[in-house]
Amino acid sequence: MSAPIAMPSPPPRMNIVGSGKLGRTLARLLSDAGVITIGAIYNRKAEHSRSARAFIGAGNIADNLEQLSDYPAPLWILATPDAAIHSCAQQLAACADIDWRGSVVFHSSGLKTSAELAPLQDLGSAIASAHPAHSFASPERSLTRFASTVCTLEGDAPAIEQLGRLFSAIGGQTSVIDASAKPLYHAATVMASNYLVALLGSSQSLLAEAGIDEGLAAAILAPLMQQSLQNGLKVGPVNALTGPIARGDIETLQTHLDAIEQAHPDLLNAYTSMGAQALKLARQQGSLKQQQLTAMAQLFETEKTTH
Ligand SMILES: NC(=O)c1ccc[n+]([C@@H]2O[C@H](COP(=O)([O-])OP(=O)(O)OC[C@H]3O[C@@H](n4cnc5c(N)ncnc54)[C@H](OP(=O)(O)O)[C@@H]3O)[C@@H](O)[C@H]2O)c1
Repeated sequence: MSAPIAMPSPPPRMNIVGSGKLGRTLARLLSDAGVITIGAIYNRKAEHSRSARAFIGAGNIADNLEQLSDYPAPLWILATPDAAIHSCAQQLAACADIDWRGSVVFHSSGLKTSAELAPLQDLGSAIASAHPAHSFASPERSLTRFASTVCTLEGDAPAIEQLGRLFSAIGGQTSVIDASAKPLYHAATVMASNYLVALLGSSQSLLAEAGIDEGLAAAILAPLMQQSLQNGLKVGPVNALTGPIARGDIETLQTHLDAIEQAHPDLLNAYTSMGAQALKLARQQGSLKQQQLTAMAQLFETEKTTH
């Protein structure tokens, strides 16, 4: 059994700037776990703060950033959209009545680094970014699905240490990442999460063009996608790849391309780009002849250049 995580007593108060999908979910999880108390909540629109307070079950609504000085807190999350994090940090730094010395301030962008918070670091805060690799599309669902999410941390050591304890307390697995690796790390998570959804949408569009209704399309795609994903995660992408590319079946691929060009030409590039990636896996399987691999590579390349 792992040793219990030492938590400061009493739990620190956390102020929240930007309590949308991620901000309210983390606040509720941490508060329910008893590892923080909720201080103030600020969003530009008061209705967003009110709905967050209802969801979290606690919090004082601040009408503007200056009012946050009425709620001193040693812990702050800036969970605004990425583009607003730095300007929020600048505006907060300009609030003369907030004492930042000894505080921990973090944001949750996957791409941006803790450097976005430098204006507050200059005033004595330990700063960090803490990115949960989780889709917070539905805060209610995320409350029960968050456990075991990997949270990548980067920034000042005291902030990383405290956030490590907090995320562990709500079931997260924490890992430290180098700031320079964040763009590639984030691109990878976007591909795995958002592009999977885009792939689902593309398959549904082709099935609709084939005259297959939504219910049947879901029945076809749900087990197919789930099995492929499970296989890929279990045995690795090279071993999991099946289908026409793994078999070197160029006639089938040509027929697909002709049909997609007729019905949904906007999906041709997606088909050939992902086909080229699948071809790399087929090459690594080692069972196809060089001639077959070259013919498929040329087919995908030709389609790309003619559209
Ligand atoms: N959603 C996810 O699945 C997810 C996953 C991992 C990481 N993240 C990261 O989490 C952060 C928040 O994303 P989100 O999806 O929760 O965004 P969101 O749902 O759009 O919420 C953003 C919140 O910030 C407030 N806001 C916007 N501009 C502001 C400003 N200038 N000052 C103060 N508040 C402001 C908005 O309210 P007002 O418009 O009323 O100000 C809103 O309540 C981002 O850094 C994102 O990259 C999100």
